[in-house]
Amino acid sequence: MGGGPTAMLSVLALLVASLAALSTTVQAQLVENFYRTSCPSAETVITSAVNSALNRRAASAAGVLRIHFHDCFVHGCDASVLIDSPSEKDAPPNGSLQGFEVIDAAKTAIEKRCPGIVSCADITAMASQIAVKKLSGGKITWKVPLGRRDGLVSSAADVAGKLPAPTANVATLKSIFAGVGLTTEEMVVLSGAHSVGVASCRAVQNRLTTPPDATLDPTYAQALQRQCPAGSPNNVNLDVTTPTRLDEVYFKNLQARKGLLTSDQVLHEDPETKPMVAKHTSQGVFNEAFKNAMRKMSDIGVLTGSAGEIRANCHRFNA
Ligand code: HEM
Repeated sequence: MGGGPTAMLSVLALLVASLAALSTTVQAQLVENFYRTSCPSAETVITSAVNSALNRRAASAAGVLRIHFHDCFVHGCDASVLIDSPSEKDAPPNGSLQGFEVIDAAKTAIEKRCPGIVSCADITAMASQIAVKKLSGGKITWKVPLGRRDGLVSSAADVAGKLPAPTANVATLKSIFAGVGLTTEEMVVLSGAHSVGVASCRAVQNRLTTPPDATLDPTYAQALQRQCPAGSPNNVNLDVTTPTRLDEVYFKNLQARKGLLTSDQVLHEDPETKPMVAKHTSQGVFNEAFKNAMRKMSDIGVLTGSAGEIRANCHRFNA
């Protein structure tokens, strides 16, 4: 290509076109105080409804955090996981999701105040932030940018390969997280969510062989074998040390070979992720990194502008 005025002009035209495209993308981004004019009390109403629901049932806080993760990894954070069967809810990893009543309580409250304005996707993202704040004793908190819209698709088939199995190795975990734009370190940090909540014995059965998985601390393995006899319907705490506190202790447990799931413990066994586990045993480092990774996760594949819809009921698409 020559360097004459025509070439210069086409470069300039390209630049203008890219800037225009960029500004459209920027406009489509989420913003803080999105409902400032359309529903000024939105955040207050949702915060209060979510907190009341979490006060009624503390176990739902971990549930809500997991719902948000499962929502964002399939079709982006668009509330597709909230749709009733036939839907994503029928896919095996979603069978044990719990805490939906928290989102329902917030949606009911906001529909009374501002009908048809606030999306189920935004409510889920906010509820997840409120749950994290509560679970971390107020140490991990941020302001959630808003403006998500609700998706129009929810199918069990779409979940396949998008959500990691508890038996996953690091290569699989990395590839699933990379598929939604998250780095290996963000994958390690977000696994820190397993510092709260429970898993079914089924999810750990692969490690309770005779002899047990060699990467399990022997005393911990014995305790798990007692809690989870073959075929047991029981649940076990994901974090054996501080089960109700979202904190860096999860990473210390991994160093002590007391991670519950294979997908937890492999993070300490793999040479690439092992130093990341060590780094996040620091409370300050983990709290900051978890907040940033959550912010990023809450932005995955969001629908904005006129895409999707604002559902009247989070369980169903609008007619
Ligand atoms: C890294 C890959 C991950 C795998 C393989 C995984 C897998 C699992 C499994 C199998 C359970 C227990 C389900 C059951 O048996 O009932 C669970 C629970 C949970 N997961 Fe994950 N998860 C991963 C990442 C995440 C992320 C990124 C988050 C959130 C940011 C998260 C949040 C939770 C929470 C809070 C629970 C407990 C839920 C409750 O008590 O109801 N997980 N996860």
